[in-house]
Amino acid sequence: MNIVFYNQKGGVGKSSSCANFGALLRERGHTVALYDLDPQENLIGGIVLNHKDVKRVARDTHFEYSLFDCPPSLGQESAAALQVADLVIIPVQLEYYAAKGLSAILDILHEAQGRGYQFEYRILPTMLDRRIKISVQFEADLRGRFGALVLPTISRNSAVVVADAHQLPVVEHAPRAQASKDYRAACACLLDEVNQ
Ligand SMILES: Nc1ncnc2c1ncn2[C@@H]1O[C@H](COP(=O)(O)OP(=O)(O)OP(=O)(O)O)[C@@H](O)[C@H]1O
Ligand SMILES: [Mg+2]
Repeated sequence: MNIVFYNQKGGVGKSSSCANFGALLRERGHTVALYDLDPQENLIGGIVLNHKDVKRVARDTHFEYSLFDCPPSLGQESAAALQVADLVIIPVQLEYYAAKGLSAILDILHEAQGRGYQFEYRILPTMLDRRIKISVQFEADLRGRFGALVLPTISRNSAVVVADAHQLPVVEHAPRAQASKDYRAACACLLDEVNQ
């Protein structure tokens, strides 16, 4: 299964989510490949990949899951990843401009599906700070509008930044941190759906 982490906006949690889902899938005994389509190379444990190589690695049957971390742009890399995606995860930061950008992303995904692309998509709310009322409101709005397409939310948690500094996914570096609990819940929810 090819899972693509996709959002043209920067800093929304694509790479963090990719690394953490990868670690959690491995923890459950699955074989996982992590591919970094961002030339800045910031996916922890990821193999940097040129867009030309996406189709080739996607055919590799050594792995149960291949995870692709897209750069913050709609260039050739993101386009190549969409072509091989079974599932697109859209990390969305819970703030006004990010929520606004979501409809642009969904337009692109719907258009691709209209052209025969086979993926499903899920929305992953990230960096929720429950003390910020408007963020809590955005989360509720997302769930109201997109229902079951919205995965369990990832909290804003400094443990993610600390884990980054140690070049580890937070679920490995601080398994009991709130963000780790959240990533576990999101991953479990996703696997429940995949296995149905
Ligand atoms: N849940 C979280 N709580 C706090 N900080 C977070 C969280 N998730 C990610 N971050 C931090 O936010 C920054 C951006 O995260 P990340 O690199 O995952 O986003 P990205 O979408 O991949 O960014 P880019 O588009 O630049 O590749 C990083 O410094 C990361 O440590
Ligand atoms: Mg990134």
